Amino acid sequence: MTSAGASLLLLFLSVSVFAHGTTVYKTDEFLGPAECLENKFDRESCDLVFCRPWQSCVNGRCACRPPYKCPTEGLAQVCSHSNKLVRSYCQAMAVSCQTKKPFMSHFGESCTADEPKFSSSLDEFTGLVQLFVPGTGSTGGGGEDLLVCQDQWDTAAANVACKESGHTLGAAAADTLSYVSLTSVPSERPLPDRCVSVRCQGYESSLSECVIYNKTSINDGNVAAATCAQPATDEECDFRCVSGKCLSLSQTCDGVDDCGDRSDEMCCKKCRGWAFRCSSGVCLPKDAVGDGQIDCLDGEDESRKHTEIRVTRAHMESKVKCGVPKAGSDDDEEEWGSISRRVKRVVGGQRTKPTQIQWQAAIMINRRLECGGAYIGGCWVVTAAHCLGPNPLLSKPTPGPDDRIPQKPNLGDVQVKFSLWRPARALPTTDVIPIADLHIHPLYNPNTRENDIALVQLQKLPFREECFENNPAVTPVCVPWTSRLFNPNHTCTISGWGQTAGGRRAHYLEWANVSLIEDCQRFHNDDLKPGMICAGALDGSVDACQGDNGGPLVCEDELGVSYLWGIVSWGSCGRPQSPGVYTQVAHYFEWIRRHTGWPTVTRFNF
Ligand SMILES: *[C@@H]1O[C@H](CO)[C@@H](O)[C@H](O)[C@H]1NC(C)=O
Ligand SMILES: *[C@@H]1O[C@H](CO)[C@@H](O)[C@H](O)[C@H]1NC(C)=O
Ligand SMILES: *[C@@H]1O[C@H](CO)[C@@H](O)[C@H](O)[C@H]1NC(C)=O
Repeated sequence: MTSAGASLLLLFLSVSVFAHGTTVYKTDEFLGPAECLENKFDRESCDLVFCRPWQSCVNGRCACRPPYKCPTEGLAQVCSHSNKLVRSYCQAMAVSCQTKKPFMSHFGESCTADEPKFSSSLDEFTGLVQLFVPGTGSTGGGGEDLLVCQDQWDTAAANVACKESGHTLGAAAADTLSYVSLTSVPSERPLPDRCVSVRCQGYESSLSECVIYNKTSINDGNVAAATCAQPATDEECDFRCVSGKCLSLSQTCDGVDDCGDRSDEMCCKKCRGWAFRCSSGVCLPKDAVGDGQIDCLDGEDESRKHTEIRVTRAHMESKVKCGVPKAGSDDDEEEWGSISRRVKRVVGGQRTKPTQIQWQAAIMINRRLECGGAYIGGCWVVTAAHCLGPNPLLSKPTPGPDDRIPQKPNLGDVQVKFSLWRPARALPTTDVIPIADLHIHPLYNPNTRENDIALVQLQKLPFREECFENNPAVTPVCVPWTSRLFNPNHTCTISGWGQTAGGRRAHYLEWANVSLIEDCQRFHNDDLKPGMICAGALDGSVDACQGDNGGPLVCEDELGVSYLWGIVSWGSCGRPQSPGVYTQVAHYFEWIRRHTGWPTVTRFNF
């Protein structure tokens, strides 16, 4: 009974949330919550899912990339309906993304006007799907009429077949028909006696864009058909897709893209059956897990927890340019000049290994170690805006009226040190780099600490594009493009040379584990503004402190790739029930990207 009460309450709340009162979201233990559904997420919502390779993520939506951005290796040429030959499937899809019309006819190099092109048809009465596939004729040239085998036929493919035949809402059901009963009806044109398997992802606008393979003879088996969805009326609908198509609740959150725009799989508390839930709340079909392709933003579907495929990891690492520290550097502390006695720590922290935190930067002002920072690639270091004043404003429980807008320090007075471990003594890999410019967020407010973020632009080496020599102990950390990459309670790490429990500056770079804390208003009330997040331990046993300012809060995804999730901003240094506050880097993705350009902040989606 309590669950009925709860769902009624939810319905009541969602009605009252919408001023116009037109939308009511039905939810169950799988679908929801309503606040998520309200966003009308679909396959183009790249805060939650990856874009296709021919798209890039711009302000939370997938946008078409120009065809020339497609990869240029290992390609099979594609012939278009307009007799145009392009270099790859990706290029063909990039064109159709821009023109919103199917472009691809078939793979192959012969593409003249007299060459036949792909076509498909869907019988209005039986739903039988028929294809004409060029270049597959038994005699070599031409092409062949084929039916579709039932083995890979699913809702995603049926959606594409229906859309291609003009039913904009896609399929109501993926069906199969008995070949024998079809052929028992006499007809003018005999049916093809062979079929091909067709596997679609669901984003395709034509079956020609799906994978077509394994032509076989049908014999007495079943073949594929589709019942197309009728235009939605005002009917009661358990779930209405973003496209307007109507589904039952049981079709949502089952890993199958019943909507055709994926909107039934985007807001899920749990997944039905064998479907896999990404921590972003998206349900994937079981076979997307461990298939070598990353579908969850954090790579969870390909992590070692869920799959044996270690190849994925190796493949990934070769592509990722950020967030994976370089291996192989010798981290023997004795050799790096450590005295092996225990030192006081950052509140709750531990001494790092000499080259452990490879994105850690030290911001030096007038040769004083003023703040931490994080290297994000290229010539760019992220730090807190409050670090770059002549008298840097240090951490305070509440900002006071004496806080002034900092004057930018003289560029010549600022330097960045990479691979610094002991502030008092350089490692062989320690590098000191002069800076070219400082970009403090234009809306930084020292009184409220809003927008406490700044970019330090390093000076280029003479006659070079790089700003420092290749360094085995320096690796950029990835910049997150969505605030949904990590959830509350995720354990992340902070690092810095900040004040230790005894109140003195640490002799070594220290690190500590902290958890992301949800609903931080309950601790900081109105002082917590948009673009701020909290992390720490509620008992105050672990916290960032004065001197850690500007330093990185870094979270690792399921594949071991690290993201700069926060920048140490303000707090009260280990006081219970007052977790440290960080600038939320994902909130400033656009601002960072505008300064650094795409390549610096690119990982997958761009
Ligand atoms: C094609 O069919 C054969 C025989 O049924 C099967 O062994 C093979 O795995 C199929 N190919 C693909 C790509 O599924
Ligand atoms: C985080 O942990 C707290 C305490 O264990 C728990 O009450 C809360 O539900 C968790 N939040 C999430 C989103 O898992
Ligand atoms: C953080 O947690 C990890 C995993 O539990 C552990 O291996 C590591 O030692 C911890 N680091 C610190 C500084 O406590």
